Amino acid sequence: MFAVTAARFSSDDPLSGLELGEHAEPAPPEGWTTVTVKATSLNHHDVWTLRGVGISADRLPMILGCDAAGVDADGNEVVVHGVVSDRDGDETLDPARTLLSERYDGTFAERVAVPRRNLIGKPAAVSFADAACLPTAYLTAYRMLFDKSGLQPGSTILVQGAGGGVATALILLGRAAGFRIWATSRSEAKRERAIKLGADQAFPAGARLPERVDAVMETVGEDTWAHSLKALRPGGRMVICGATSGTMPPADLARIFFLQLSVVGSTMGSRAQLARLVRFCEQTGLRPLIDRTLPLRDAPEGFAAMVNGELFGKVVFTL
Ligand SMILES: NC(=O)c1ccc[n+]([C@@H]2O[C@H](COP(=O)([O-])OP(=O)(O)OC[C@H]3O[C@@H](n4cnc5c(N)ncnc54)[C@H](OP(=O)(O)O)[C@@H]3O)[C@@H](O)[C@H]2O)c1
Repeated sequence: MFAVTAARFSSDDPLSGLELGEHAEPAPPEGWTTVTVKATSLNHHDVWTLRGVGISADRLPMILGCDAAGVDADGNEVVVHGVVSDRDGDETLDPARTLLSERYDGTFAERVAVPRRNLIGKPAAVSFADAACLPTAYLTAYRMLFDKSGLQPGSTILVQGAGGGVATALILLGRAAGFRIWATSRSEAKRERAIKLGADQAFPAGARLPERVDAVMETVGEDTWAHSLKALRPGGRMVICGATSGTMPPADLARIFFLQLSVVGSTMGSRAQLARLVRFCEQTGLRPLIDRTLPLRDAPEGFAAMVNGELFGKVVFTL
C-alpha cells in the first residue's frame, strides 16, 4: 500500500527524511482492526518526528500521522482516537500510552491498524476531511478549554500564535462555547483572519493587552512565554500543550507565586472526550478550519507549508 514515512531524522532539514512509496500492509494483533483511511491531517507532531523528537532511530522507517477518519472492517464510518493505551478511564494519564506513529505505524497510509477500542462512529453530517482534523489538534484544544482551563463561558482567554492547527481550533471552539477570545500572531494577515474566525481582538506577538486575561492557551513556548505570564490576571491560569519555538524559557518564578498563577500541562484528550467533541461538532454545526486539502501523494507540499509557518488552520490529506 502507499504510505508516507519518516525514513531518517534531521533537526535542521526535517523534510529530507520524508519518503513516499510502497509499504507493507498492516498486520493487526489481537484486539486490533484495520481502518481504510479516507482522510488524515498533518500535525506539528509529524514534523517533530522527522526532527527526531519523541522517537528513537530503531523505530524507523515509521509511517507518520496521528489522525484518521475512514471505514472500518465492517464498513462503518469511523474516527480514530490516536492515543494507544490499555487503561480504562483517561488514557492520556497512562505512563505507557503512545500516540500512533510513535511506536505503531501512523495514519498517512491507505490502511492503518488500530485498537478496536479506539474507534468512534463518525456522524454522516461530519465529512471525512473534517473528522480527520479532530483527533489531535481539536481534541487537544477541547481539553485545554473545557477541562484544564477550569473556566466558565464569558471568561477571557488569550490564544498565542493564532495561525496554528491547535490555535485555530481554540479560537473556533472557544468562540462557540461563549468565551471572549483574544489572539496574537506575528503576521498581520493572520491577525485579520483570526478576527474573521471569531477572535474578539488580535494583537501582534508580545503586544500590551487592554486588560489581563483569565487564562492563556500556550502552544508556542519560549517565544511567547514571558508575554503569556504577564498577560494573566492574579490567580490566572496558563494551559500549555506545546512549545514549538523552544521548551526552556526563563520561568519567572516570582511572578508565578506572587500573582498566584497556575501553569497546567495538557496533552491530547481521552477517547470519551473525543466522542464528546465529535458530538459537539454535530450539535453546533462547528467544522474545523482547513487551510488546504491535498492528495496524500502531495504530502511534502503540506509539510513544507507547516515548516515555513505559512498555514492558517489544518492541512488535510485525502486518499
Ligand atoms: N501535547 C499535545 O497533545 C499536543 C497536541 C497538538 C499539538 N501540540 C504541540 O503544539 C504545538 C502547535 O501544534 P500545531 O499542530 O498547532 O502546529 P502548527 O499548526 O505548526 O502551529 C504553529 C503556530 O505557532 C505559532 N508560532 C509563534 N511563534 C512561533 C515560532 N517562533 N516558531 C514557530 N511557530 C510559532 C505560529 O503562529 P503565528 O504565525 O500566527 O504567530 C504558527 O502558526 C506544536 O509544538 C505541537 O507539537 C501538542
